Amino acid sequence: MNRYENVGKAELKIGDKKIELPIYEGTENERGIDVSTLREATGHITVDPGYMNTGSCTSNITFIDGDKGILRYRGIPIEELAEKASFIETAYLLIFGKLPTSEELTAFSNGLTENAPLHEDIKKFFDGFPSATHPMAILCSVVSALSGYYPYSLDPKRDESEITSTAFQLISKARTIAAYSYRKSVGEPFIYPREKFKYCQNFLHMMFSYPGEDYVPDPDMTRALELVLILHADHEQNCSTSTVRLVGSARTNLFASVAAGICALWGPLHGGANQEVMEMLEDINASGEKIDHYINEAMKPGSTKRLSGFGHRVYKTYDPRAKVLKEAFHRLVHGKSKFRGKEELLEIALRLEERALKEDFFISRKLYPNVDFYSGLIYNFLGIPTAMFPVMFAIGRVPGWIAHWKEMRETKPPRIGRPRQIYTGPAKSSYIPIEQRT
Ligand code: SDX
Repeated sequence: MNRYENVGKAELKIGDKKIELPIYEGTENERGIDVSTLREATGHITVDPGYMNTGSCTSNITFIDGDKGILRYRGIPIEELAEKASFIETAYLLIFGKLPTSEELTAFSNGLTENAPLHEDIKKFFDGFPSATHPMAILCSVVSALSGYYPYSLDPKRDESEITSTAFQLISKARTIAAYSYRKSVGEPFIYPREKFKYCQNFLHMMFSYPGEDYVPDPDMTRALELVLILHADHEQNCSTSTVRLVGSARTNLFASVAAGICALWGPLHGGANQEVMEMLEDINASGEKIDHYINEAMKPGSTKRLSGFGHRVYKTYDPRAKVLKEAFHRLVHGKSKFRGKEELLEIALRLEERALKEDFFISRKLYPNVDFYSGLIYNFLGIPTAMFPVMFAIGRVPGWIAHWKEMRETKPPRIGRPRQIYTGPAKSSYIPIEQRT
């Protein structure tokens, strides 16, 4: 049962003034103090850089317990979805709030298939990008430009059905754009999606098949891709999802809001970490040592170096997604001759994890492997180049971004997000003519 209940009051005393602020409790007994009347009642605002203690909204979509390592989409544990669901079922669950019936799933899947191809003119975009362009630059540019091909998406008063069709466009085309950016980077022809393939099969087909060749997607690889996309599908108010909600609160269309989320995700502290992790593992593999180097660099007092794939704003224990990925990867490759050699990087990752978790620096700060520490092993296993790893994260996260954008728009009253600040700059001064400046 969804819950947001007033469970009492917090008293705030400022000088001789005392005010009461309501305390609310959510479904999983998380508590928040509602400060929406604070400034009007006291002339004060809260200040919380990085929003370490600040909730931007209530949400029915995803629940995380960072201390217990719990992650649930619409109440369903990630471990069950990873084992039993498809990525498309999970996307439906996140966006519409329930698991689809077989009819609903068929209609959703058909909608994605129909919307997989890109308008022929979009292919010209790729001619303009240098071949070394980072695929995230291509993805955010082309996703933002999709509104030019679907102008109905610009109408902020659009009805539900058109939001669904935009969702189809985004979920399906983000995958096609990603595949095309890879093909552009290796100088190979674009491969059209095929109706007979389901979502993940079509991605592998567009990435790795050749014109005229009858490509058969490997079932182990297809299942591995489903798994890694499911695990990335949502994660409540992370940096990129909060970006999508903030941009969307200005009544910005869904394509542009998601393009903003892609840009936020690109950062190495966020979705770009999976690329950093793989580059670190490959560097260790090539040099034959350096595990201590990366750990010591990260622990050096005042160091700006971070051990990529470790630490999390919310998880202060093992990221449940990392646990699922580690076990799934081992099951996928162990003992299979066709995947020989892929286990080397897993061995290095396991040694790195074991070595770091012996250091008080990591233990005392509760820094454990996060989703990005192991996800790259699966992408590497699928033959996806390292620079594409953040794009794979984005493809997985598109349903979550859509779900949050939709939820934000349904919030009453609709309100543009506009944080306050405390000004700390120079007091009032005057213009100085240039001849008097020093
Ligand atoms: C994702 O928010 C989400 O949900 C994100 C995500 C999602 O699904 O959307 O889960 C996906 O982005 C996972 C995180 C991927 N990023 C990385 O792996 C980059 C490495 N990790 C960090 O940079 C860091 O842990 C963050 C950014 C993830 C979290 O940073 P916080 O919460 O702001 O913590 P902090 O920077 O204040 O660090 C607290 C302390 C500091 O040391 P002291 O000042 O106390 O001495 O821990 C240290 C930091 O220096 N620290 C690390 C570290 N992470 C934190 N030191 C070394 N290596 C690290 N990885």
